[in-house]
Amino acid sequence: MACAVLETADAHAKTKLSRKYAAQWFADRAADQMIEIGTANPPLQPARPNKPDLLSPREVPKRKPGTPQGRIAILHAVAHIELNAVDLHWDLIARFSDVPMPIGFFDDWVKAADEESKHFGLISDCLIQMDSHYGAMPAHAGMWRAAEDTTQDFMGRLAVVPMVLEARGLDVTPGMIDIFRKAKDDQAVSAMEVIYSEEVHHVAYGSKWFHFLCGRHDKDPKVVFHELVRRYFHGGLKPPFNEEKRAEAGIPPDFYWPLADELTYSK
Ligand SMILES: [Fe+2]
Ligand SMILES: [Fe+2]
Repeated sequence: MACAVLETADAHAKTKLSRKYAAQWFADRAADQMIEIGTANPPLQPARPNKPDLLSPREVPKRKPGTPQGRIAILHAVAHIELNAVDLHWDLIARFSDVPMPIGFFDDWVKAADEESKHFGLISDCLIQMDSHYGAMPAHAGMWRAAEDTTQDFMGRLAVVPMVLEARGLDVTPGMIDIFRKAKDDQAVSAMEVIYSEEVHHVAYGSKWFHFLCGRHDKDPKVVFHELVRRYFHGGLKPPFNEEKRAEAGIPPDFYWPLADELTYSK
């Protein structure tokens, strides 16, 4: 199922399939059905639609958030992130399926994938409301880099994707909500509020299963986290951090502050 989602190119077909499989998963779980996890061979890169064109971050034109065009650009970037997140969660499930994990691990990531699919739909609807659509402008290439860099490292994947990238979402989302609130775009505000509240759980799932694996291998979570982020994450951690939401998601300050300070010193 995870591979079928990854191999679907069209964004709406991908998110629809993702939601269908998630519903099936939770129906089987509710019926107490035995589910065999199996193993899978996911593609190195997920299938993606022909549009948007993918450009390097420097080539993506910057637009002012005070204009409707600027707000469309923000929504488009968020839609792109959500679509990547759908693939990231199903990839996590398929990629490391050879590692025995409690069934709750799959519950969490199937739920996260389902929510990302819903987020993509909510933001797509906002774009349509503004006479645009996902694919109407270029998007960042390289979003899949974190996944490619960690295909062989389960703990590295958890450290970089939910605990760094999705945690970053918690830092920046309140500012985006403000932009749409000022523009009196209620639809976008409520879509982003849904995203903001649900993303806390995705970060928490990351922290939970990262700590679980540290426990299994008798490792110190903070030390390993620092090591893995330094190895796999190239962007540097940028303050200000949303300390409140990060705490709620189980990411303590001594996990991220030392990585941010390092960056400041090296400048
Ligand atoms: Fe999301
Ligand atoms: Fe997420």
